[in-house]
Amino acid sequence: MSFYEITGGRPLEGRLAVQGSKNSVLPILAAAILIPGESVIHNCPHLSDVDNTLDILRLLGCQVLRDGTTVRINASHLTRWDIPDRLVREMRGSVVFLGSLLARLGAAQLCYPGGCELGPRPIDLHLSALRALGAEIAEEHGLLHCMGCRPLQGREICLSIPSVGATENAMLAACGCQGKTVITGAAREPEIVDLQDFLRKTGVHITGAGTSRICIQGGVSQDRVEHTVIGDRMAGATYLCAAAAAGGSIELTGLEPEHLACVLAVLEEAGCRITQEKGQITLHSSGQLHGVRPVRTAPYPGFPTDAQAVLMAALAGGEGSTMFVENIFDSRYHHVDELRRMGARIQTDGRVAVVTGAGRLHGADVHGTDLRGAAALVVAALGAKGVSRVSGLAHLERGYDSFGDTLSSLGARIQTL
Ligand code: UD1
Repeated sequence: MSFYEITGGRPLEGRLAVQGSKNSVLPILAAAILIPGESVIHNCPHLSDVDNTLDILRLLGCQVLRDGTTVRINASHLTRWDIPDRLVREMRGSVVFLGSLLARLGAAQLCYPGGCELGPRPIDLHLSALRALGAEIAEEHGLLHCMGCRPLQGREICLSIPSVGATENAMLAACGCQGKTVITGAAREPEIVDLQDFLRKTGVHITGAGTSRICIQGGVSQDRVEHTVIGDRMAGATYLCAAAAAGGSIELTGLEPEHLACVLAVLEEAGCRITQEKGQITLHSSGQLHGVRPVRTAPYPGFPTDAQAVLMAALAGGEGSTMFVENIFDSRYHHVDELRRMGARIQTDGRVAVVTGAGRLHGADVHGTDLRGAAALVVAALGAKGVSRVSGLAHLERGYDSFGDTLSSLGARIQTL
């Protein structure tokens, strides 16, 4: 099993073009099957979740070509609508293919994605949204069989939680509907706006993404679409927290500062100096952070759950206390025990964690069990005294393009062994 060996305490310095967004590109790749022709997608990061999605597209009958960060998908001839268990289990995000397969072919079959490292991950809202549009969905022996009464009918869908995945699934299915679909209670994440931008290029009339009410008039009319994926705000948050913990000065480009407004405000409160311009964020840190007001994760534009672990890791090596309240997922503190091995003082009780800054952490052997939790261990190791070995790299490959090399280019001492 490979691991990173990190010698902490070296400041990070330099400029970095942030990778394309994982959470944007996955639904956009699923949307490529709506078009009976070619989608050209730029800024597509090299991630195992993307490789998995490209495998799904090939399996469905698409021709897929990758050249660097540009991917070309020709979905003229789809040959099947079922996705094998292996690929669904590998990547929960594949559930968005339900919406796009229903829109294009009127049928979809995949296994129930089940829970994950973050706790139970129900998809009831996805299914009720698709049912509202006329899909008949049978759940048998862990398999989901979806058939649409063709064509699906546009309707009003009301989401009781602004679920990102359910909003995406409903948007995708609505593209194949006759008439107008209105999604209320929609998620407002920037990745939803990026999906809307892609869908508009297919000829679908869609408005409202970024607000809680999205209107979609189905009907794909284009057979060639070209799109550039937005920058990854979670990768951005990770590099900013790494520089905050280790000290130094980094400049991120290719990312909208507004998408990280909450994270930037908290890092400033913790003692970092931040300047922002369009598409660019600069952070200076002395490496000595202090506690901040309670951090409560919330749907966008609130503090993102995906940035909770990396921020906690940065603050654990500072001074003063911070309370975290994780409101999105039930089980998102797996990194805490590992951070304690590095000297962190963190108490948890259910959804609440209180970090009492312990001054510089020390190096240790630690293991990541989920994507952002593993990233948090790398952040902590970069700020710690001495050598750490961080294992669980497969999780990092799901979400960070060339993570080790990128950190090395900023001056981190990090080796893959
Ligand atoms: C997406 C992101 C993930 C991020 C999360 C929250 C992708 C690939 N993943 O995940 O990185 O952490 O948003 O910002 O984009 N829920 C239900 N029923 C449902 C669907 C969701 O109860 O049918 C609940 C979930 O259990 C969770 C909350 O709603 O408590 C939010 O989940 P959701 O927004 O759907 O997250 P994902 O789309 O899975």
